[in-house]
Amino acid sequence: MNDRERLLEQSWMINAEAWTKSVRENQIESRKIATDQAILDEINRFDPKRVLDVGCGEGWLVRTLGMQGMEVVGMDGSLELINKAQSAGGGHFVHLNYSDLTKAPSRLGSQFDVIVCNFSLLSEDISTILQSLAPLLSADGVILIQTLHPFSVAQHDRYEDGWREESFTGMGEGYKSSMPWYYRTMGSWLNEVQADGHLKLLHCQEPINPTTGKPLSLLITVTKNTN
Ligand SMILES: C[S@@+](CC[C@H](N)C(=O)[O-])C[C@H]1O[C@@H](n2cnc3c(N)ncnc32)[C@H](O)[C@@H]1O
Repeated sequence: MNDRERLLEQSWMINAEAWTKSVRENQIESRKIATDQAILDEINRFDPKRVLDVGCGEGWLVRTLGMQGMEVVGMDGSLELINKAQSAGGGHFVHLNYSDLTKAPSRLGSQFDVIVCNFSLLSEDISTILQSLAPLLSADGVILIQTLHPFSVAQHDRYEDGWREESFTGMGEGYKSSMPWYYRTMGSWLNEVQADGHLKLLHCQEPINPTTGKPLSLLITVTKNTN
C-alpha cells in the first residue's frame, strides 16, 4: 500500500462522524437528486436474494436492501464506520480493508447475486479488487460500480487519470481530513473493469441532474466473463 492509499483509508476513520451525519441527514445533493435511487433501481432490476456491499460506509444501502427482504453483507475498512453500520443493523457487517479482502475474499461469503461498490472504489488499483470479488458471484451474478462521473471533474481539471484531493466541500460540516482519490477517465473506467478478462461489461448508465442536464454519476454493470 502506498502513502496515498494509506491516507485514503485513514480519512474514512477520521471523517467517520462527519460522513455518517452527511449521509443520514441527506446533506449530499447528488445523492438526493439521483444517485441513491439509481443504484437501488439497478440492484432491484436483478431481483437479488444475496447482496454484498463493498465499502458500505455507515450502512445506508445495507439497511435499505435488508428492509426489502434481501440478505445483505456489508464490508468496510473503517472500523468507526462499520461500528456505526452495525449499531443501526439491517445486515451482517465485516471490518476488512481491500488489501486483506484480496488475500482472503471468501471471508465475506459466496453466491452473491449482486456485489455493489457505491462510490467506494477510490484507489489506483481496482482490477485486483474486482478480480477477487468475481469468484464470490452466483452463476448469473453482477457487480455494480457507481462512481463520480469523469466529466464532472474534467470541467475544471485535466482529463487524464491521476490522484486528486477531495475536500468534502458542500457535503456537510465537521470533516477533519481531505481524501486522496484516483481519478479515471471514461475510457479508463471501462478498460479497468474488464482488465484481465475476468469480467465483461453488461451496461453503463449516466444518471443526470434533470435541472442542469449534467451527469451526476457513472454506473457500470459487469458480469463474469465465461468465454
Ligand atoms: C464515499 S464512501 C461510500 C460509502 C457507502 N458505499 C455509501 O454509499 O454511502 C467510501 C467508502 O469506501 C470505504 N473504503 C475506501 N477505501 C477502502 C479500502 N481500501 N478498504 C476498505 N474500505 C475502503 C471507506 O471506508 C468508505 O466507507
